Amino acid sequence: MASIVLKGSGQKMPLVGFGLWKVTKSSCADTVYNAIKHGYRLLDGAGDYGNEKEAGEGVARAIKDGLVKREDLFITSKLWNTFHAREHVRALAEHQLKLWGIDYFDLFLIHFPIALKYVDPSHRYPPEWFGDDGKVYLQNSPIQETWEAMEGLHDAGLAKNIGISNFSGGLILDLMRYARVQPSVLQIEHHPYLTQEPLVKLANELGIAITAYSSFGPQSFLELNMDRDAKLLLDHNVVTQIASEHQKTPAQVLLRWATQRGIAVIPKSNNQQRLMQNLHCTDFNLSPEQIKEISALNHNLRFNDPADIDVRLSIFA
Ligand SMILES: NC(=O)c1ccc[n+]([C@@H]2O[C@H](COP(=O)([O-])OP(=O)(O)OC[C@H]3O[C@@H](n4cnc5c(N)ncnc54)[C@H](OP(=O)(O)O)[C@@H]3O)[C@@H](O)[C@H]2O)c1
Repeated sequence: MASIVLKGSGQKMPLVGFGLWKVTKSSCADTVYNAIKHGYRLLDGAGDYGNEKEAGEGVARAIKDGLVKREDLFITSKLWNTFHAREHVRALAEHQLKLWGIDYFDLFLIHFPIALKYVDPSHRYPPEWFGDDGKVYLQNSPIQETWEAMEGLHDAGLAKNIGISNFSGGLILDLMRYARVQPSVLQIEHHPYLTQEPLVKLANELGIAITAYSSFGPQSFLELNMDRDAKLLLDHNVVTQIASEHQKTPAQVLLRWATQRGIAVIPKSNNQQRLMQNLHCTDFNLSPEQIKEISALNHNLRFNDPADIDVRLSIFA
């Protein structure tokens, strides 16, 4: 399987993985088992997705049935916003590892550069964005403090690689000034409506691998009423025309557009056929003109913006 070699650890990260956000909890173990059975080796989870225990059950069953060994898998998880304080990072990572039933993550990311007030996991887990009264409470934990605690996870072997998600250029440059362990991966929203060229260039220059999330643009946000009434990329005539030229699906074209530019993808699907279709997206090549044509759809349209929750969370302002 095509992969990206991560700077620092030298570990290979698969170019195509499986995303776990909104993977239905009741069928998550089966979905993960099937994803592994069909060839996925990267699983992209997060504390916030609320299905780490079930994902771990799918992994355990796949290992028990001899489909894979733990070391064949690349398991990613993320630190939620309410656990940014130095003293909470390790406890949370250990809690998450326990849920997964594994003893290390291949990659552990800071989910957002946003620190929220601590919520004890015994009170509510996952804690999400709001306090008990429905309000957002910020907390004074600077990223440097959180990153140093992430480095502690790396030192302890609990995370083979550490990284960041939803960070912008200025924050990355600042982090690079003090990082003892450099971020291996930057995970960002990335699709033809939001191509993020300057950020991609910066990460490339710094040797930070990029993983795209929400590669299908508005598709993932339809069910949340957060699609901003954007035309679906999977129905866009530029994409469907190129798909028919290659006898591929629009989804495969969108994924290939990213991977051909060296960006890893982690599509999610609750449907077995689409899950398989998404994995098989690297056996054809788009022409440079087709890549250009798809990239020209960019109009800096972002769907996942915490500023929609509270203006004090405007990390992309
Ligand atoms: N770091 C972050 O802040 C962050 C934020 C968002 C997501 N992520 C990660 O990135 C992963 C992927 O992003 P995402 O879940 O937002 O969106 P996505 O993978 O771009 O899109 C998922 C949506 O597309 C549909 N779909 C999947 N394959 C399809 C296909 N071949 N043809 C037509 N429709 C298809 C899915 O429906 P069905 O399930 O019905 O197939 C679902 O509605 C997440 O699961 C998560 O792991 C990270």
